[in-house]
Amino acid sequence: MNHLLKLSDLTREEILSILNLADQLKYERSHGIVNESLKGKKLGMIFQKSSTRTRVSFETGIFELGGYGMFLSSHDLQIGRGEPVEDTARVLSRYLDGIMIRTFAQKEVEDLAKYGTIPVINGLTDYAHPCQVLADLMTVREYKGSFKDLKFTYVGDGNNMANSLMVGTIKQEMSFTIACPKGYEPDAELMKWAKKNGNFTITEDVDEAIKDADVLYTDVWASMGMEQEKVQREHDFKGYQINEKNIKYAKSDVMVMHCLPAHRGEEITAGVFEAHANEIFDEAENRLHAQKAVMVKLMK
Ligand code: CP
Ligand code: NVA
Repeated sequence: MNHLLKLSDLTREEILSILNLADQLKYERSHGIVNESLKGKKLGMIFQKSSTRTRVSFETGIFELGGYGMFLSSHDLQIGRGEPVEDTARVLSRYLDGIMIRTFAQKEVEDLAKYGTIPVINGLTDYAHPCQVLADLMTVREYKGSFKDLKFTYVGDGNNMANSLMVGTIKQEMSFTIACPKGYEPDAELMKWAKKNGNFTITEDVDEAIKDADVLYTDVWASMGMEQEKVQREHDFKGYQINEKNIKYAKSDVMVMHCLPAHRGEEITAGVFEAHANEIFDEAENRLHAQKAVMVKLMK
């Protein structure tokens, strides 16, 4: 494993190995055990979109591992003025030990890895959000003990989260069900892969998708960069919500997850969100541990 560009590049075992190291790092941190596996290492963090969790967890994570994180806004970098990613990659490779990037096109992340000589971590593109899903898998395992026989249901947009969750859950042999409106399905190639390699269901029937679920997941109706579609999406996604009425169809010990930020009253009601705040904020915390594990695996 040289980069983390998307989960489909990783084997089931590689994912498990990251999760196991993440558990260890979480244990060490909570017991005051210092782990400076990345002492003196430098991580550049390029952001072309907003972020709270990704930025703060990466910056905290590299600091705790004994390294240094450099926040690089695309407004300030020459990349924002058109310097090609091929050149940026080769320059940053001369200074740094790793790059995390959040941007729009997946190709930009892949190109950064192709032209640079240091590990690249995808901190979210329009296509994928692998760091989030590693934290999500870690959280599911914490709450459920294992992935065995779990029904994982996603309600909402077939976006970057849906793409990465579909791959991550199926690689860990959970079943993956998505309820989304017509025209908002996940990536077609990934769905083909999911159908071939696991137990995958896609439906427009939210209640049916939620039935007997062990894990319920949702995300915003309009992702970053889709602000101009907001009104249309509010119309198209009506009903694609986790709420007090439909959560009754899930198993009684269902856990509810959200990558955050959440829009209460849209994809999830305030009541369901607050009733499951423990899971949701453990999930947010686990970004830190999972990404520390990724950095150690790639940069040590
Ligand atoms: N979930 C997530 O990636 O959050 P941020 O956009 O705040 O980084
Ligand atoms: N789908 C959301 C995820 C945010 C973490 C977005 O891309 O904006």
